[in-house]
Amino acid sequence: MSLIHEDLFERVVAVRRDLHRHPELSWQEHRTAGKVCEFLDSLGIAFRSGIAGHGVIAEIPGRQGKPLVALRADLDALPIQEETGLPFSSSVDGVMHACGHDGHTSMLLGAAALLVQEPDLPVTIRLIFQPAEETGNGARAMVDAGALEDVGMVFGGHIDRHFEVGTIAVTEGAVNASSDRFKITVTGEGTHAARPHEAVDAVVVGSLLVMAIQTIVSREMNPSHPSVVTVGRFDAGTAANVIAGNATLEGTIRAQDPEVRIHLQQSIERISRSVGQLHNANVSCEIVEGTPPVINAPDLTSLARQAAVTAVGERNVVRMEHANMGGEDFSEYLRTVPGCYVRFGAVVPGCEGYPAHSSRFDFDERALAVAAAYYRELAIVAGRKLRDES
Ligand code: NI
Repeated sequence: MSLIHEDLFERVVAVRRDLHRHPELSWQEHRTAGKVCEFLDSLGIAFRSGIAGHGVIAEIPGRQGKPLVALRADLDALPIQEETGLPFSSSVDGVMHACGHDGHTSMLLGAAALLVQEPDLPVTIRLIFQPAEETGNGARAMVDAGALEDVGMVFGGHIDRHFEVGTIAVTEGAVNASSDRFKITVTGEGTHAARPHEAVDAVVVGSLLVMAIQTIVSREMNPSHPSVVTVGRFDAGTAANVIAGNATLEGTIRAQDPEVRIHLQQSIERISRSVGQLHNANVSCEIVEGTPPVINAPDLTSLARQAAVTAVGERNVVRMEHANMGGEDFSEYLRTVPGCYVRFGAVVPGCEGYPAHSSRFDFDERALAVAAAYYRELAIVAGRKLRDES
């Protein structure tokens, strides 16, 4: 791929394969961060490490120091046993880069190598290498540690095997869903299995809750606004001949629209109360808010599109046609500054059936060159825009 020099491409691929072979779980990205620092050092780029755990923040100075443009990558892997059979497969039992974060880190290092050669960057470019995206709280920690100080715009992207390699999907509006958790605790009255009249059966109350919760999405929500409520765990009872006194339900709530998100949360709470009352059980519901949806700002999306067109040409710039209900903690940056999050096409023929978070997930490494070239263009067009506005 001629988007970047062959020797740089080889270097970036070597980093990716090294990271892939040595994956580290969220909050444990010690070695990975060390590799990032080594690469930045070799380019003569100043950085600070040990931010919010193992985060790294680097800066490539431009004409204007602030506001600046931030580009973000994530460092962590997942607790999955790799089954790809790749020659550079994970050497760590039960840990795998199954979401392409090895690629995100190395593509941003590739972009750093390109940007450091630019003689006249309009503004300073900040590179954010964050820990713990998979646990959904690394971005928040980086923001709290000052990663967005002086930042005017923030950009990022994800490797995506739904799209052909060489393409970039640039989409305005919501591109990832919010991700919240809920836990419902049912306290009834346990007793002998043959004496239901003396019991408040937590299995029955819990089952009703599972079914009632399903009607929130199917009967309460506007079908044109995507939403998901999943009960992923239902725990109750101790023996076949005992009526259960307690049950616990845990699940996840996804929405692309902030109002839909609140409606889903409130409905789960309402249904929990009502079903408890209906059957004389004590039902409590706890909602744990996770990351908000990723919503791409329209004006920044057009900057991203412009950069993508320059990098890969008009006909290789596509858009996501379907809602992605996965969470992405890039949204934590967007609480503070506007930004745009894109997808880098990277399908490997024959691997279409192995999505991110699968033990056989793999991606076409040529996407690394595409992304590095895109980030370079983007840093320049976004930097010009910031400079002209200030
Ligand atoms: Ni990911």
